[in-house]
Parts: sequence; structure tokens; C-alpha cells
Amino acid sequence: LFSAVALAPRDPILGLSEQFAADTNPNKVNLGVGVYFDENGKLPLLDAVRKAEAALQANPKPRGYLPIDGLGSYDQNVKELVFGKTSEPVTSGRVVTVQALGGTGGLKVGADFLKQLLPDSKVLISNPSWENHRAIFTQAGFEVGTYTYYDAARRAIDFEGLKADLERAEQGTIVILHACCHNPTGYDLTPAQWDEIIAIVKARQLTPFLDMAYQGFSQGLAEDGAVVGKFVAAGLTFLVSTSFSKSFSLYGERVGALSVLTQDKQEAARVLSQLKVKVRTNYSNPPTHGAAVVSHVLADAELRALWEEELGEMRTRIKAMRQKLVDGLKAAGVSQDVSYITTQVGMFSYSGLTKEEMVRLREEFGVYGTDSGRICVAALNSNNVDYVAQAIAKVM
Ligand code: LMR
Repeated sequence: LFSAVALAPRDPILGLSEQFAADTNPNKVNLGVGVYFDENGKLPLLDAVRKAEAALQANPKPRGYLPIDGLGSYDQNVKELVFGKTSEPVTSGRVVTVQALGGTGGLKVGADFLKQLLPDSKVLISNPSWENHRAIFTQAGFEVGTYTYYDAARRAIDFEGLKADLERAEQGTIVILHACCHNPTGYDLTPAQWDEIIAIVKARQLTPFLDMAYQGFSQGLAEDGAVVGKFVAAGLTFLVSTSFSKSFSLYGERVGALSVLTQDKQEAARVLSQLKVKVRTNYSNPPTHGAAVVSHVLADAELRALWEEELGEMRTRIKAMRQKLVDGLKAAGVSQDVSYITTQVGMFSYSGLTKEEMVRLREEFGVYGTDSGRICVAALNSNNVDYVAQAIAKVM
């Protein structure tokens, strides 16, 4: 029966974690997957999470099935976080939010829903993009193309190229846009550039699907989430997938969401009914714990403030590590301008290293980044940054 099954290639990101786990190099550093590690190289358990879990444990609840669309309080809190508590989309009831299995789950539920709604549409992702974008939308049955995003020679966004590609896209084309902390490049559009992109999306009647997996890792929660408000203000209807994996350090809980902004409350009810069909036929309904924790934190003023403070600490430490990496590269004798490392935002630096150089980094030094040259600067700390800088300097 299975003799014809071909061996699939390793996942370009999570496959690296498998390889890393098997590596016996005592100096190994995993800068492959987008995961934040603290100054001690440990995955943090946020105090806000710890306190929320203690409160939940003090009043333990039986674990019945959640509704298909997830924990109601969670969905409401996410909606308010993403769109604003008193925003018109929330108060009018024309936005629906369903709990999803991380940001990836939100993208997949959205992809399946869109495939039914717009079966002949193409999907455009940025060039380059998070590797899983192409895979998710291809698996959902779409033809996936790219729009210009990054100009490697200038180490900047090719904004003219980006606009030209969107201008050329057929009506209805689904465009996946990174709301903040572009993965993998770390280069985000400016607010003024977003305005231009939104005008094109509107004029060309494209279907925007925002991916916001890193809210809070560039400037702050409000600043990073501002692009959602711009799409609302433009009168567009759209999808947005969000995640608390990184911002709550709750990777393994798979706690994310898909929100869909529709035209009115009636349309919202119909959309929700279809999203529920997608969830029910994929995994029935989502798990309770992560959503209960996040919902508890978001609804409690004190815990929410604590969470925002801890998120701010992660953001600040990543920025400090960017600078340390630059300093370390200079100390290791790199004479090229590497200031781009501190210009980029979010968890990643797009190093510009070739695939061969990334393979050498891995094999000779145990320093793991993706073949595309992406390294997770959020996993650097004072103990490993110089080693990483020296390894990069040697392969450069
Ligand atoms: C990443 O880009 O490394 C993260 O989003 C984790 C993942 O699922 O790939």
C-alpha cells in the first residue's frame, strides 16, 4: 500500500530543530525557528502566564468540548485586541473571530474558507516569505505566486516592484501581507507605504489576508497592530490571522485566531457558519488551556499590564542582541557594513548569507539558521552572541 510513498523533504524551519536536537556539538545554537529565548538561553514562562495559570488552577474547571469556534471570552478578547474594543467593526458586530491552532491554524482555516469562496483565485505571497505560506495555500488547493518585496542588492524593500506586481494582479487575487515584523526579512512598510498598498488593494479589488504573528516585537502592540486599523479605515473587508505563540511564549499551546471583517452583522453570521464547517471537518474544535490563559490575561487589567511589560522586555532584549551581533561581527574582523542588522525589526535578521554559507555555519559551527539566510536574533544572548558572530565572520 505504501510502497509508492515518496520521502518528503524536511520542513525548512521545523526540520532544522530536528537536526539541531540530534547535533552533538556542545557549542550548538539554534537560530533556525522563530522562538524567543531569554538571556540565560531559556524559553521563558511569562509571569503573566504563570499567574493566570495559578488563578485558573485555584478554580479548576472540567474539560468539556469548547464550541467549534473556540472559547467565547477568548474570541472576544482577541477581537478587541486586534481591532480595538470600541472600534466600529467590534461594536457593530461585523467582525468574526474564531480560535485557531496558532497563527498557522488561522491561516489554514482562512485558506480552506477562501478556496470554497474563490476557487479560481490565485494567491500571492511576498518574495521571500515565511516558507509555510506557500505550503499552506498550495495544500489548500491554490496556485501560489509571489509579489516583489525584497531587493537584496539594496538591502531594502523594492517598493516600486511591490506596487507594480499588485497593480498587475487580477481582481480577487488573495494577497498575503505581513502586518508587522516581516518574516524572514525584518523589513516593514512605513505607514505611508501601507497607505499606497491599501489604495492599490482597494482599486484592484484584491483580497487581503494579513498575517500578524509577531505583534509587539517591532515597536509595540498598538504600533505594530496599526495596519489593521488602516485596512478598516479604507473600508475594506479582509482576513487576519493572529498568534500568541511568540508574544505570550506559548508556542506549544497552539493559541491563535482567525478574524474576518465582513460588511455587516448578517454577513458575519454567514461567514462564521462557514468557518465553523472548516474547523469541524479539520479538528472539530480547539483545545482549552492556552485560550483560557490568554483570555484571563487579556481580561485582567493587572495581568495585561504585566504581559505588556514582559513583551516590552523581550522586544528590548532582541534589539540589544542585534547591536551585540553587529559589535561581535566587527570585533571578529568583518569590515562590511552590517548595520542592516539593527535596522531590521522583529525576531529575525535576513543575513544575506548564501545557502552554502548557512550549511557551513551548521556543519562546522553548530549554528543553525534557515537555508534562506534567516537567523533568529531572539535566540541570541550574551553567552552565545560572540561565538555566533565569529562563526558568521568565518563563513562570510
Ligand atoms: C518561524 O518562522 O520560524 C516560526 O513562525 C515558526 C514556524 O512555525 O515556522
